[in-house]
Amino acid sequence: MMQQPFGTELNPQLNAHSELQHFLDTDGLNRELIEQILDTATSFFNPADGLIKKVPLLRGKTVANVFFEASTRTRTTFEVAAKRLSADVLNLDINTSATSKGESLLDTIKNLQAMQVDMFVMRHADSGAAHFLAQHVAPHVSVVNAGDGRHAHPSQALLDMFTIRRHKGADFSKLSVAIIGDILHSRVARSQIHALKLLGCKDIRLIGPETLMPNHAEAMGVSCHHELEPALKGLDVMIALRLQKERMQSALLPSEREFFKEYGLTQQRVALAKPDAIVMHPGPTNRGVEIAADVADGKQSVILEQVNVGIAVRMAVMSICLGNRQKEVR
Ligand code: CP
Repeated sequence: MMQQPFGTELNPQLNAHSELQHFLDTDGLNRELIEQILDTATSFFNPADGLIKKVPLLRGKTVANVFFEASTRTRTTFEVAAKRLSADVLNLDINTSATSKGESLLDTIKNLQAMQVDMFVMRHADSGAAHFLAQHVAPHVSVVNAGDGRHAHPSQALLDMFTIRRHKGADFSKLSVAIIGDILHSRVARSQIHALKLLGCKDIRLIGPETLMPNHAEAMGVSCHHELEPALKGLDVMIALRLQKERMQSALLPSEREFFKEYGLTQQRVALAKPDAIVMHPGPTNRGVEIAADVADGKQSVILEQVNVGIAVRMAVMSICLGNRQKEVR
């Protein structure tokens, strides 16, 4: 395995052998690490009856889910993943925890660490919160970023890559993928773009209104489109994103109805892509805003499959990080 280059700033999610010790961002990973996670996730599927029920990989370990922002899919699939790896799981309810009485993030984390927590899975409204935490935990402890502000949502991006690879094969260089909607506020889009590029995807199209497109987005090696229908032609994968109104500082849209008219994925629009194209959405979906109900439930939709494979991908991330951490402290 390649060593981290001498004289460069160390990537905080990798150890000295360039192995994962924390999982913070798809930016800074390499293709080998992404494929290690996807292949490990594949090994958690049993050809006869799907996702395996239980393995002892994290027996004796404790995983704390600390979510400072709302979540349905990420929090629960991390919990299911940890339990299938035989870990003990603590779910901190932020509304009833001492953070609501003013305790700092680090004090909360240090108290949980005193209870012999081995891994923190954290979602936080502040970009960079997971990196900050990774700098302050004990050497045997791993941090997994479950979404930080507008910055990154790496486990979502990798479960999306797993879903694409399952339907379209491992050669991403042949694929045309669009990410549609509110790119500006999306940590998912940012993490997906890095992962797609690392896996070799050359045609990544960002589609959305100018007000919801990051400045200089093309510098990420993608193309930007403000008109939906022409940009759907020839696509293999369409990923719709939720309008993230909680992160909008001012009115960036005339109305949701107007947004659906211009950018909503309807059956007629999906038909402009390749006939075997898949429709994805990280959730939560707003039917009638970014996606029509009959598309979300339609035969090209893999939205619920994304949730299911998310368990395997999160099992892979957790077992790889803690496995590497354990080797280091031996
Ligand atoms: N995709 C995603 O992050 O969903 P949740 O907010 O429900 O976790």
